[in-house]
This record gives sequence, structure tokens and C-alpha cells, in this order.
Amino acid sequence: MSSNFQWTRKDLLSLYDLEAQEIEFILDTAAEFKKVSARKVKKVPALRGKTVVNFFFEPSTRTRVSFELAEQRLSADIVNVTASTSSLTKGESLLDTVRNIEALNVDLLVMRHPVPGAANFVAERVGAGVVNAGDGAHSHPTQALLDLFTIREHKGRIKGLKVAIVGDIMHSRVARSNLWGLLKLGAEVTLVGPSTLAPREFEEVGVRVCHNLEEAIADADVVNMLRIQRERQESGFFPSTGEYARFFGLNSNTARFLKDDALIMHPGPINRDVELSSELADGSRSVILEQVTNGLAVRMAVLFLVAGCLKK
Ligand code: CP
Repeated sequence: MSSNFQWTRKDLLSLYDLEAQEIEFILDTAAEFKKVSARKVKKVPALRGKTVVNFFFEPSTRTRVSFELAEQRLSADIVNVTASTSSLTKGESLLDTVRNIEALNVDLLVMRHPVPGAANFVAERVGAGVVNAGDGAHSHPTQALLDLFTIREHKGRIKGLKVAIVGDIMHSRVARSNLWGLLKLGAEVTLVGPSTLAPREFEEVGVRVCHNLEEAIADADVVNMLRIQRERQESGFFPSTGEYARFFGLNSNTARFLKDDALIMHPGPINRDVELSSELADGSRSVILEQVTNGLAVRMAVLFLVAGCLKK
């Protein structure tokens, strides 16, 4: 990456929006911030004097805690807002809510919302920087960045790797964000799942779609297992959880087809022994907890870069 590359965006909404060199610049910046977390004093003054509001209108463990820690390690002032304790419960609109919060001189909004496009809607209407922490089934850019970071750390590259993303593709913002990031950096992506959850329409964006797990993972360098997102499913998409686990779950039976050096990933939370067996989730090929660790460095990088593009 050229050292004179300039980050120019006040928002991070989707990896679809980014050029390959922007993605690589975030990953390179995250590698520097990862060193900060290894120090005795895990804090830098990069966001001193900046105020960040974390809006989480959907449950979260990993994303919320790591954004908050990232902000603390960058020395920002932080306020947390949840839908259930805000005046949204009295009927205030999302736009009125964020405009009122912006009137308090806030610099950055980190936002998780159940509606696709909610972060874009807000970013187009406020001067503060907006970082999308997940919007419905649309986008989860920092999850994909931490996945790319983890793959690059282990394999030394993204270009030319074969990556299988397995499970509930249809309802997954993680799958959508990963596929854009992986394609832009030159990986070959296969989406795997029952035809109801991994429809052929995805082939239009340049990925392979496969409905047979064993065939799809046989040459994969990375297998990213997704959770069945029942909260976004309006009806049954497969006959039973047992049948799903048998045909699309990664377990000691199906993992016989995996390469010895394949990475096993999962964004969390895991439905243990449904999409992924405990034995493999906790086994030597799993990098699941490393993904969580890397999420902190990636979120520090993103907050630092977007804060540098604010007008005030
Ligand atoms: N991967 C992920 O977004 O997890 P949380 O919902 O716990 O933040």
C-alpha cells in the first residue's frame, strides 16, 4: 500500500462502496492498531476530544463490546443509546432522534439497526460520521473487514484463495459484506446452502452457488459458517433443524472433505451442533476467537480513518 494513500470517507456503510485499495488501507491500518492492544498501556490519544454515540437498535455482543473498547482505546468520549430506553418508544422518528443527538455536537455515530439501509439514510442527512454496525440483512462492513484481516493474517493474502460461505446466505449481512470484500480483493467465492437460502441469483455478482456442502468445501482454503437467522425468516426454509445440520452443518462427518489447512470461521453467535459442531468450533482449525480479537483492531482503524475526514 502506497504511504501517500488518502482516506476520504466520513462514513463506512458497506464494502460494496469501497475500492480494493481502500479495503487494503483499512486492513493495513488495523495491523498497526493491533500492536496497540499488545502493549502494557493499550490506549492512544487518536480520538481525544471526539464524541462517539453507539446506537444499537438490535442485540449484539461482539460488535457492541468491541466498538466500545475501540473507542475507549482511542480515548474518545462515549455515549451508548438503545432503542428500548430512548424516546423512539414514544414515537420519535429515527431521523429526529439522530438530529437531536447531533445537536449535542457529536462527531461519530456507530449504528446497528434492523432495517436495511438505515445507516445510509442517516449518513445522508447528518454531518457526523456514520459507521454501520449492521443493518438488517444488508451490510455488516466491519465484520467482513475483520474476517478479511483474519484470513490475510493466516494465509498471507486474499487474492486467489477459495472461500466457501455456508448457510443462511439469503438473510445474512455477513455473507453480503464478505462476498463484496472477497471479490474486490481477488478471492474465489462459493456460496453454499439449501436452494431456499442460497439462491442462484447470487451468481449474477460473480460467485459460484452450490447446494452440496461436501463438493463445495473440498478445495476451500477458508470455510465461513453462518448462523441460521431465524429472527429474519418469515417461514421455514428447510424441513427441520436436524436435516439442516445433516446436510449443511460442518461436523466430524462433513469435515472429512476439508483440506488440512482450511480455516474454519464463524461470525458468531454460533448455534452449536447445528451449523457447526462444538468439536470443530473449538478445534485447531478454528479461528473464531481470533476473528473477535481482530474486530477490535479493525474497528479502531475504521473509527480513526472516518474521524480524520470530519469537517469540524
Ligand atoms: N458477529 C456479530 O455481529 O455478533 P454480534 O451480533 O454479537 O455483534
